Amino acid sequence: METVIKQITSESVATACKILLDGGIVGMPTETVYGLAGDGTNPDAVKRIFEAKGRPSDNPLIAHVHKDYDLSTLVQINQPYVYDLIKAFTPGPLTMVFISKGVVCSQAVCGGETLAVRIPSHQGCQELLRAINRPIVAPSANLSKHTSPVTAMHVYDDMKGKIPLILDGGKCQGGIESTVLDVTESVPRILRAGLVTKEMIESVTGRCEIAMHRDGDKVRSPGVKYKHYRPKCETALYGEDQLDQVYAHYEKVKSQGKTPYIMCADHIANKFDGLNLLRLGKTAEEIASNLYDKLLEGEKIADVIIAVAMPNEEGIFLGVMNRLKKSCG
Ligand code: TXA
Ligand code: MG
Repeated sequence: METVIKQITSESVATACKILLDGGIVGMPTETVYGLAGDGTNPDAVKRIFEAKGRPSDNPLIAHVHKDYDLSTLVQINQPYVYDLIKAFTPGPLTMVFISKGVVCSQAVCGGETLAVRIPSHQGCQELLRAINRPIVAPSANLSKHTSPVTAMHVYDDMKGKIPLILDGGKCQGGIESTVLDVTESVPRILRAGLVTKEMIESVTGRCEIAMHRDGDKVRSPGVKYKHYRPKCETALYGEDQLDQVYAHYEKVKSQGKTPYIMCADHIANKFDGLNLLRLGKTAEEIASNLYDKLLEGEKIADVIIAVAMPNEEGIFLGVMNRLKKSCG
């Protein structure tokens, strides 16, 4: 199959709708990462998504809808705070997990009772969702375990020959996947950290928990138990207080005739002037936005990416560190 990349326009959106209504799958931009989109009510489309990614069959998909879609047709909204969250954070990088009403097929949720729903803010994505006016399930458009794509070319690199169309909506601004929040109980629980932080959620709901995973626990968000986000080259991860070790590792790789790159925030990069650097930026937002882009750039030019951790795990850095540990740790 030939895979074409098209700028997102009303014409390419119409083409994408036709493919989706036929049970096909397409690459779709969102404000977080690119998704691999299919009709959530069509088991054949869902099967194609799992196959194209090589995704484990027990990891459910998120349903994406436009901002005027009536969520109550898809899920049970049992907690009053949900309406406040919708008002505060949608459209945007917040996914909420509800009890499903079964409109999205059971294959998409791996037979589970719940459905994760998200309303993306990316304008082109909104146009597509509005045009199709049905729940579109979309995991990140990478091969399973690989780093998530933030440009149409990244999607092409993993999905060429497997899907007919990638809608190009530019580089994703958010850069890491949405926050996944369980809203089935009286206190919301973060299952996957992202750009909508615990502090932001608490400011609306008063309370918010973070799901902690220990071995043996029932995993509530199946995706978090898998290896994830890994670039194709070797990696290492050090703390901000281990810069001597970062330098030693860099020199060791070089002495073996291989190419090291240090991936870090700008304030650390300034200390390694003259070395090969993948600079992530200054602010937490910038760093999140650049993380996957730099990992995917790094895997092409480096033999080893030596990453330096963030100064803390607060706010957006919680989501950044969660990805950094899985990709480079
Ligand atoms: O930003 C995003 O969320 C991107 C874009 C494309 O929207 N999508 C994305 O999908 O990251 P994916 O499939 O790569 O990750 C979905 C995560 C997984 O960790 C999965 O286990 C969790 O959401 N999830 C999906 N449905 C769930 C459910 N019903 N209950 C708990 N966790 C769920
Ligand atoms: Mg993913």
